[in-house]
Amino acid sequence: MKKKIAPSILSADFSRLGEEVKAVEKAGAHLIHVDVMDGHFVPNITIGPVVVQGLRKLTSLPLDVHLMIEEPERYVEVFAEAGSDWITIHAEACSPLRQTIRKLRQLKVRPGVVVNPSTSLKTLYPILDQVDYVLVMSVHPGFGGQPLIPSTLRKVSQLRKIVDRDYPSVEIAVDGGIKVENITDVAKAGADIFVLGTGIFKTKNYKETIRKLKKMINDA
Ligand code: DX5
Ligand code: ZN
Repeated sequence: MKKKIAPSILSADFSRLGEEVKAVEKAGAHLIHVDVMDGHFVPNITIGPVVVQGLRKLTSLPLDVHLMIEEPERYVEVFAEAGSDWITIHAEACSPLRQTIRKLRQLKVRPGVVVNPSTSLKTLYPILDQVDYVLVMSVHPGFGGQPLIPSTLRKVSQLRKIVDRDYPSVEIAVDGGIKVENITDVAKAGADIFVLGTGIFKTKNYKETIRKLKKMINDA
């Protein structure tokens, strides 16, 4: 499976959001990761469907929308209509998890499930046959710029084994605290998709950073 770099716009300069997205697209990003926060599931508040709609017009890259919201089942339709290509919902925030994943597929969105650092992989067992990807949080969700929690990489390795054995089409994404300095470890643990906020947007030359990141994940 082709490994992918997904810049998280949370760390972009929002006064120039369009230019920032175009710049990472030009620099070789594979996806645009969009962090939606509701002030309930996580303490922070970010953006809603209107911003997704705006981004949709700007870029041809897939929009990977990470819903850090309570009861995501109430909002998947509106985020799909706004132009999301991929959507992840938190296992911790959604009780009708299977139905919501099924709904995403009906909406022609690639469905994914996310787990927080303290959530066991066992939570995923009933739905691994339903999702296209799993997003493993390597920080507690809510803010960019936090350090990666090392124990989450063991979880990635465990998930890698399960996926390789039983669900080979499922991709593994990792989100939080990834940088040039540690991306090789994340790749070795078994990630396919690498989400980086500050690790890209707080560097000077996006093209050079993404070139380095791609080389490191493909050499790992
Ligand atoms: C955290 C978000 C992440 C965040 C990553 O709650 O889900 O996508 O933007 O930012 P960095 O790479 O700075 O940890
Ligand atoms: Zn995210």
